[in-house]
Amino acid sequence: MTIASRAKKVTTHTLHEMKQVGEKITMLTSYDYSLARLVDGAGIDVILVGDSASNVMAGNDTTVPITLDHMIYHAQCVVKAVDRALVVVDMPFGTYQGDSKNALDSAIRIMKETGGHAVKLEGGMEILDSVKRIMTAGIPVMGHLGLTPQSIYKFGTYTVRAKEDLEASRLLADAKALEEAGCFSIVFEKIPADLAERVTKQLTIPTIGIGAGVECDGQVLVLHDMLGITKDFSPRFLRRYADLGTAIDTSVKSYIKDVRNSDFPNKDEEY
Ligand code: KIV
Repeated sequence: MTIASRAKKVTTHTLHEMKQVGEKITMLTSYDYSLARLVDGAGIDVILVGDSASNVMAGNDTTVPITLDHMIYHAQCVVKAVDRALVVVDMPFGTYQGDSKNALDSAIRIMKETGGHAVKLEGGMEILDSVKRIMTAGIPVMGHLGLTPQSIYKFGTYTVRAKEDLEASRLLADAKALEEAGCFSIVFEKIPADLAERVTKQLTIPTIGIGAGVECDGQVLVLHDMLGITKDFSPRFLRRYADLGTAIDTSVKSYIKDVRNSDFPNKDEEY
């Protein structure tokens, strides 16, 4: 029996045990009740209420505009749906950078108002004060290194990060600092696979990759991307497991045709 199959409720401790025995951790995003219910029911280990909701749900170009109130709303919807998965909630841009008191207050709001189990913050040394202060309230923190979309205006592009030695060694130092500060896990986004493997081997906490190769301790994807609902986003790391975009298009077109032809509803579908 695996550790994941034994866990009635996944905790940060479950993830730590999974890393120790080399059992892969599965993580997907969700932002609403209905899809979170399906994702949790299918047996995912971690649900991330990602600030990618800014793009996927709200149609923004970046994750920068989403607010704490928006994230709390999405997390409330997800938490109501989940029986087993660990629910991690992204702290949005502007709620933790440069002000550890603001970080603590924001994290406490997330935990109190949503019932989520942990928060995720983007960045390394520069946000360490906030990470540590949040932990003083007993709130578990997941880190996020590599491509950190909240800093898109600093990077200028969504390209692979840490390809050069200097940035790679900075990432290693950041990962170690986050582990030392007490983070229970770190997401690596869009970094070279060999770097992700090297850093993963040097950490005792699990790493979750997105575009970071197979040697991370787990993987995460944005649900709407892997289901083929979002069509205009096709990075190399993305594997599509369904084509729901086409299924929805076909279904809606059939419905329109049936209504226009008075084929819907039929006698069995009326009272
Ligand atoms: O917001 C998000 O969906 C994320 C994942 C890409 C890791 O942070």
